[in-house]
Amino acid sequence: MNILLIGSGGREHAFAWKLKQSNQLDHLYIAPGNAGTAQLGTNLSIEGTDFPSIAKAVQTHHIDMVVVGPEVPLVAGIHDFFLSEPDLCHIPVIGPVAAGARLEGSKEFAKEFMLRQGIPTARHCSVTLDNVEEGIRFLGSLRPPYVLKADGLAAGKGVLILDQLQEAVEALRNMLGGMFGNASATVVIEEYLSGVECSVFVLTDGIHHKILPVAKDYKRIGEGDTGLNTGGMGAVSPVPFADEAFMHKVEERMVLPTLEGLRKEGIPFQGIIFLGLMNCAGDPYLIEYNVRMGDPETEAVILRIQSDLVELFKGVAEGNLDEKELLVDPGTAVTVVVVAGGYPGSFAKGDVIHRLEKVTESVVFHAGTKATEAGVVTNGGRVLAVSSLAETMENALGASYRSAALVEFKEMYFRKDIGFDLKH
Ligand code: AMP
Ligand code: GLY
Repeated sequence: MNILLIGSGGREHAFAWKLKQSNQLDHLYIAPGNAGTAQLGTNLSIEGTDFPSIAKAVQTHHIDMVVVGPEVPLVAGIHDFFLSEPDLCHIPVIGPVAAGARLEGSKEFAKEFMLRQGIPTARHCSVTLDNVEEGIRFLGSLRPPYVLKADGLAAGKGVLILDQLQEAVEALRNMLGGMFGNASATVVIEEYLSGVECSVFVLTDGIHHKILPVAKDYKRIGEGDTGLNTGGMGAVSPVPFADEAFMHKVEERMVLPTLEGLRKEGIPFQGIIFLGLMNCAGDPYLIEYNVRMGDPETEAVILRIQSDLVELFKGVAEGNLDEKELLVDPGTAVTVVVVAGGYPGSFAKGDVIHRLEKVTESVVFHAGTKATEAGVVTNGGRVLAVSSLAETMENALGASYRSAALVEFKEMYFRKDIGFDLKH
């Protein structure tokens, strides 16, 4: 079969790498892809939200399945678009319809949904310009730090965590005043949860589900989790504290109620539900839903999935995921993300990346790269996701760090402490 994969980051290169291993795949197309995906299939220069161009490409290239990597096309309704077109409605789309994507597209909707299903989460208050005073009173009732979230998609930047009440009140007003454009016309104020986070990925056909390997990502630019937030500087899978007992709580208290809630509310869901959760003294609290795989978690998780990903996706599309097998490598996979100097602030693009071909003990997934006549060049803040699988986290990290040190581009940077908080 021919598959069209939407997206252009490390997550999509990891998906492409895995899909390519399936003997069911004839040809892989990636829209728009990067220099890494170009080595595994054909990149099409189409954005994931350009539905008419995607429809044309699907016809031209006889696509049998569409796999959507990022959230933006899902929230914009790519799956609904396919269902509404007579020529496209028979083609499976892996990723939910817009009604399901709201779990990520609206934090207010997600919080209300969690409450309706009785899923443990932080207390919250939704605020618009119409109830600012109520929001300020709620802030006053909380202990610091204060968590404020833009309701809508804000490219991962819409969450502010502030220590002072006065700052929080000011930030609330600024957010409502358009700090994140329309995305912060509604602001969700939340009680702060303290604990360690992890990412749980649930593959579902709407009825059955499989929990994919659990992972932890590292969001801050600086070592010891300091400095500015980024798209993700590294990931580790599995997560030692997410043992069988903890995952049993996650399944009983979150996964099953989520799937049941979607069914009760008449929301079909074919794709991935990503639970971003906090381990608060052994009990999971749900921080957020996403409706796609995490990045860079995917680049680690994918190395541990031994089963055929095309087969699993067919299970999602056909409603028989229960008949598919999910085999997981018991080892540890890690990802070290190599970024361009200056990121997450301003950074250069177009620098040649040297010696990629020298890496043998890791898989280098491309994130922000582009193929040019001069070779592969940097084309984003997060440039490479260097991933390794080994029997222990230490060995996997050793491999990724040796590999990261082999490649070179101007002002490259990576954190040397991925997994620091998981070491015994
Ligand atoms: P989100 O965009 O919802 O993933 O939030 C970004 C980050 O903010 C999360 O990964 C957490 O580290 C942090 N965060 C969000 N909500 C809370 C909360 N209620 N308590 C503590 N930290 C939070
Ligand atoms: N790594 C977190 C995310 O993809 O949202």
